[in-house]
Amino acid sequence: MTDLTNLLQSVPPAIASAGSLVELEAIEAETIGRGSGIADARRGLGGITDAQERRETGRAINDVAQELTRLIADRRAVLALAEEDERLQTDRADVTLPGRRPPLGSTHVITQTMDEIVDIFVGLGYTVARGPEAETDFYNFTALNFHETHPSRLESDTLYLDYGEQEEEILLRTHTSPMQARYMEQHDPPVFIVVPGKVFRADAVDATHSPVFHQIEGLAVDDSITFADLKGTLAEFTRQFFGKDTEVKFIPHYFPFTEPSAEMHAYTKGRWIELLGCGMVNPAVFEHVGYDPDKVTGFAFGMGAERMAMVRHGITDLRALIDPDQRILEQYR
Ligand code: DAH
Repeated sequence: MTDLTNLLQSVPPAIASAGSLVELEAIEAETIGRGSGIADARRGLGGITDAQERRETGRAINDVAQELTRLIADRRAVLALAEEDERLQTDRADVTLPGRRPPLGSTHVITQTMDEIVDIFVGLGYTVARGPEAETDFYNFTALNFHETHPSRLESDTLYLDYGEQEEEILLRTHTSPMQARYMEQHDPPVFIVVPGKVFRADAVDATHSPVFHQIEGLAVDDSITFADLKGTLAEFTRQFFGKDTEVKFIPHYFPFTEPSAEMHAYTKGRWIELLGCGMVNPAVFEHVGYDPDKVTGFAFGMGAERMAMVRHGITDLRALIDPDQRILEQYR
């Protein structure tokens, strides 16, 4: 009994000074929990033979237990509020801090270059067409007037796909020119298209070669297109792409699908540089696609996107554009 009365002396101050919920729980376990003096006293009740005394002792134990339970509950409420308050203080978000920006990606410099070139031609009234990367021998070569024995057809130059016994060879297109023939077969003149896309050749990677690269093809066909239109269009394109004072010159060349054919060079960054191939559409190509060469004329051109990007940015090694090295690619954002 004296022990119990003592509890009412010693425990309440301890409850009042408990600094945290954890501390309070320890006091609770010690005073009214399973191994506590109160639990012991309850177990001792059975040994009291006098019924009257047992009842009184039991009531006294319950009174003490109830009082301590109430004090603990009150203190718990106070501590819980305080801890919540503290959490609100320390977890508070400072809405005046600047936001954290997630790292932003960007298009690859080759994609940027192609988009820009295509945009210039769209501004001149051209539309965009796209063709398949796996192409037939007919569209890649024959329709474009390549002779059966043209060296480009050799496996040392062109990547052929193995589809077993085929009526016709399937290959990875070596240029975007096949879309000239595909498009003219499907559309009547006039035609003003640009064709951006991937092309493939049996080349090893070095500073100026890659087995996969990108071209932009152009084709203009109407009833009175002349070489002057070709020159004017490509000169205007070059001025828009490299700057308004950029000079161009045309040097005779040979392509099977144009006649006459030329290479266009531009004077940029202090030197003449070859930019693209071009020419007047060869009448033989018109015949392959069902156009009447007596009624229409046209010009065509084809340029490499990597080359245009390299000249524009002063890049001397193509591998800088192929390597997935972010430190390099980030410079052309
Ligand atoms: N197809 C040529 C090549 O890959 C580039 C080219 C030259 C395209 C002259 C043309 C052209 O349309 O007229 O080298």
